[in-house]
Amino acid sequence: MKERKLDNNKARFSLSKEDIIKLKQNDNKGLISLVKDNLTNSNSLVFILEHLGHLPSNFDYSWLVSLTTHDNENVRLLAVKNLAKQASVSNIELLSRILADDKSSMVKREAVSAIGRMRATVAIPYLIKALADEDPKIVCQAIRGLLVFKGDKIVDKSLKKLKNHENELVRNIVSKEFFAKRKNKLPELRHTETYHFLENVVVNGDVRDVLKFVPDESIHLTFTSPPYYNARDYSIYPSYEKYLRFLEEVFRETFRITKEGRFLIVNTSPVIIPRISRAHSSKRYPIPFDLHYYLVNMGWEFIDDIIWEKPEYSVKNRIGGFQQHRKPLAYKPNSITEYLMVYRKKTDRLIDWNIHQYDSNIVEESKVKDGFETTNVWKIAPKSDKIHSAIFPVDLCKRVIEYYSFKGDIVFDPFAGSGTLGRTAKSLDRKFFLTEKEVKYFEYMKTLQSKDKQTKGDVTKFFTLEQFKNSLQ
Ligand SMILES: C[S@@+](CC[C@H](N)C(=O)[O-])C[C@H]1O[C@@H](n2cnc3c(N)ncnc32)[C@H](O)[C@@H]1O
Repeated sequence: MKERKLDNNKARFSLSKEDIIKLKQNDNKGLISLVKDNLTNSNSLVFILEHLGHLPSNFDYSWLVSLTTHDNENVRLLAVKNLAKQASVSNIELLSRILADDKSSMVKREAVSAIGRMRATVAIPYLIKALADEDPKIVCQAIRGLLVFKGDKIVDKSLKKLKNHENELVRNIVSKEFFAKRKNKLPELRHTETYHFLENVVVNGDVRDVLKFVPDESIHLTFTSPPYYNARDYSIYPSYEKYLRFLEEVFRETFRITKEGRFLIVNTSPVIIPRISRAHSSKRYPIPFDLHYYLVNMGWEFIDDIIWEKPEYSVKNRIGGFQQHRKPLAYKPNSITEYLMVYRKKTDRLIDWNIHQYDSNIVEESKVKDGFETTNVWKIAPKSDKIHSAIFPVDLCKRVIEYYSFKGDIVFDPFAGSGTLGRTAKSLDRKFFLTEKEVKYFEYMKTLQSKDKQTKGDVTKFFTLEQFKNSLQ
C-alpha cells in the first residue's frame, strides 16, 4: 500500500524506509531538509514520520513542532506521536494546546497519550483537565496517565468522581480501580472449576446483595427468566426505566462472576400492562429488545435468538375483537412465543479454547445425544404450577444446560423461583447456584428439593444471606 503511494509521488519523493533510518541515525540535517522539501506533500511526510521508529537520545525533535499545525490530520497525528517519544515535560504546553484546539479527535487523543507518557507530576493538572473532555477515548487515555499516580489524593479524588460517568468504559475502569468489591484471598481456579461454597447452594435474598459475595469468574452458565416488569404480582417497579436499570445491575454482576467466554441465556418476552379503563389503551413493553441494548453495552456478545414456541397462548385473548370487526390497524395476535436470548461473555478467545480447557473424557461424556434441536424454534409446552405462576418447563432447562455447559460445570439462576434450573442441573451431573428473593418460593424450593434424591455429598444447601456469608469464612 505504502509503496504504491510512493510510486505516485516518485517524481518528488523516492526514499525507502532504510534511507529514512539512515538519515535519522546520521544527523537531523538531512531529515530536516527532506521534510522541508516535502512540506506540501502529505503522503511523503506521513511516510517519513511513520518510519522514524525508535529515536536516538541526541535526536533533534524541534522540527516536529511545526508539523503539529500542518493541514493534514495524519501529519499532525504522527508529529505528536513522534514528539511523545521524547517524553519531555518541555512539550507539555504545546501538547495541552493541541489537546484544547486541534479539530481532530485522533490528534487530541495522541496529545493526551503523549502527556501521559511523561509520567511526570507536572502532567497531573493537564490530565485531570482532560477528564472533562467529551470524547470518552480521551478520558480513558487521561485516566491511564493518571493511574500512574494512583494513591495521590488529588488524582484519586478526580478519578473517583467519574464513578457515574456516562460512558460505560470509563465507569468500568474507575469502578475496577477504586470500587472493586472486597475480594477474599481465594485460590486460583481452573476454567473448569468453581468454588465449593457455591456448589448446590440456594440463597434467599435479593440477588444484588448476594452477588456481592460471589467471586469473579466462578460461574459457567446462567439461564434465567427475570421478573416480567409489572405483569405479575412479584414484580412491582416504579417505572420501566427503573426495571431495566435493575436488570442491568443484575446482569452486570452476572457478567463479573461468569467465566471467560461463557454464556448467559435470558428468557423474556414482551409484556402487556392492561389498560386502566376503556378510555385508555394497554401498553406493550418489548423487554428482550430493550434489555439487549444494556447487555451488549456491558460486554455480553450477542450470539443467538431462540424462539420458545408454545402450543397455544397462555395469557388473555387479544384477537377476540379483531375476529369480530376485522378492521385493519386493530390487529393484535395472540403471542405463543418467548425469547431465549443467547449471549457470550466477550473474549478474544474462540469457543475451541473453552472446550480445550476440559479433559477429553468430560468433553466426550458431555456430548449432546441424537435428537437435538437443529433450528432456533424450540417447541416446548409450558409448565403450570400451583405455587409459582411462571416456572420453567424441565425440557427447556435440559436443552439449555446440555447445549451450553459441560458435566461438572456450575449453572446459575439469579431469579430461581421454584428452582427448576437447579434440580435439572443436578439431574444432568452439573452443579447449581440459585438466588430467590421471596421467602415463599425459597420455602417451596425446599419442599421440591426434598422430594429429589439427595445423594451423599450432593445435598442442596439452603441459606439466608447471613448464613451464606458465614459459609464463606
Ligand atoms: C419468572 S420467575 C422465575 C421462575 C423460575 N424460572 C422457575 O422455574 O421457577 C422470577 C423470580 O424472580 C424472583 N425475583 C424477583 N426479584 C428478585 C431479586 N431482586 N432477587 C432475587 N430474586 C428475585 C421472583 O420472586 C420470581 O420468583
